[in-house]
Amino acid sequence: MAEVVIVESAEAGGEITADAVVALIAKRPDAVLGLATGTSPLSSYEAIARRSLDLSRVRGFALDEYVGLPVGHPESYRSVITRDVVEPLGMTPALVRVPGDDGGPLETAGERYEADLVAAGGVDIQLLGIGGTGHIGFNEPGSSFGSLTRIKTLTARTRADNARFFASPDEVPMHCLTQGLGTILRARHLILLAFGASKAAAIAAAIEGPLSASAPGSAVQLHPHVTVVVDEAAASGLKNADYYRYAWDNRLPWETP
Ligand code: F6R
Repeated sequence: MAEVVIVESAEAGGEITADAVVALIAKRPDAVLGLATGTSPLSSYEAIARRSLDLSRVRGFALDEYVGLPVGHPESYRSVITRDVVEPLGMTPALVRVPGDDGGPLETAGERYEADLVAAGGVDIQLLGIGGTGHIGFNEPGSSFGSLTRIKTLTARTRADNARFFASPDEVPMHCLTQGLGTILRARHLILLAFGASKAAAIAAAIEGPLSASAPGSAVQLHPHVTVVVDEAAASGLKNADYYRYAWDNRLPWETP
């Protein structure tokens, strides 16, 4: 079962992520982080930055990238990761990969990304958000639990949700490159972050609903080490919320996320 941690705020959730990253870096200064974009992981990046860790040897792999934005577009995930993660955390730009950023043909970008992930030894901690459609990465409903990095078509709902980052909804790309659900499940530790009432239905489906390609986030139920960090609003659809609080309050001293 996923460990569900219900926190009072996104800021408190960020501290849980930062604790996990501190423990990882102490063991492996060249660890591999799986990087999500969007709003949900921002408090985690801010909390990690406050810990003043030496992350110069840490390697990073982004979850996804839009297809079709010009290089250097401020809302490309390469730009977002540079701005929100690489610079504030003091990571080394050359050690951070984003799907499709190697200059090779788009059609085979997924295969090359998978090969680079394997060569890096796999992801130690993968940060995840969840979309209104239930996607993790950009694996929209219908995505195979075995899928690997590939091109996907964004749903109209996801394009509308992400229109807040663009001048107009039409500017949100139609296509993306995203790690697959199978790729995400290979990471050694997943931290799924969700804050706010708009995430309640997607979180309930992912954590307590049936395993289904229609709820791509439910793939995390197959993973042996998942930490779900949610605030009260995002947890409001969880039937077992009281048990999750009770288990967290009574965790054993060595049980850290
Ligand atoms: C981002 C990603 C997406 C987002 C999701 C939630 O790299 O893969 O799955 O995590 O769309 O986005 P926010 O956090 O902006 O609500």
